[in-house]
Amino acid sequence: MGLIIALNKGRIFKECLPLLAACDIAPDEDPDASRKLIFETRTGGHQIIIARSADVPTYVEHGVADIGITGKDTILEYGGAMGFYEMLDLGIGKCRMMTAGPVGVPEPAGVLRVATKFINITKDYYRQQERQVSLIKLSGAMEIAPLLNLSDTIVDIVDTGNTLVANGLEARATICDISTRLIVNRASMKTKFDEVNELIQQLEAVVAS
Ligand code: PRP
Repeated sequence: MGLIIALNKGRIFKECLPLLAACDIAPDEDPDASRKLIFETRTGGHQIIIARSADVPTYVEHGVADIGITGKDTILEYGGAMGFYEMLDLGIGKCRMMTAGPVGVPEPAGVLRVATKFINITKDYYRQQERQVSLIKLSGAMEIAPLLNLSDTIVDIVDTGNTLVANGLEARATICDISTRLIVNRASMKTKFDEVNELIQQLEAVVAS
């Protein structure tokens, strides 16, 4: 029985293909040369779905994908019923979820205005900090918000830090470390145990090598 594997579009997809190829799972045509969103695999009878990052947990929770590969940020941000298990850290896509603000400007004492696309992560973080915040939901390019005085602070992913520097911002607190994770639908864990387990063991070996 083949596995249905949902992958994030973009960087995660490109970084995952070699890992899957090392496990003998490869799409039957070049995804870069196709607009298709579902690919059969050359061997093994699997399927690879190319999804938007936020949708990967949705597909896996609903069981239309057995396996999902996506960032820890996406998993933490996911607001669903968590009908999946996080089984493996693939050790790629490493970065940090951080707060950041304008260089040299202290945070105001009162209610903090925070712009982010990671609303759930941000709410949880400031709740733990017992800090009262006003959240401003953006879809990306959060670095703009403090420049336009839309917010005092942002919560975003930081990798090299170049985007912050280029926009006159500085990293402040680390909320959590992020990397690419493999998640498995709860039912698939039982009904396709052998296939799922074999893939996890193969990927573990690839990641370790
Ligand atoms: C992410 C993030 C930052 C940038 C950080 O955006 O939102 O803008 O990368 O990387 P750096 O620290 O190496 O500069 P991404 O390019 O993934 O696009 P997105 O805004 O669509 O998430």
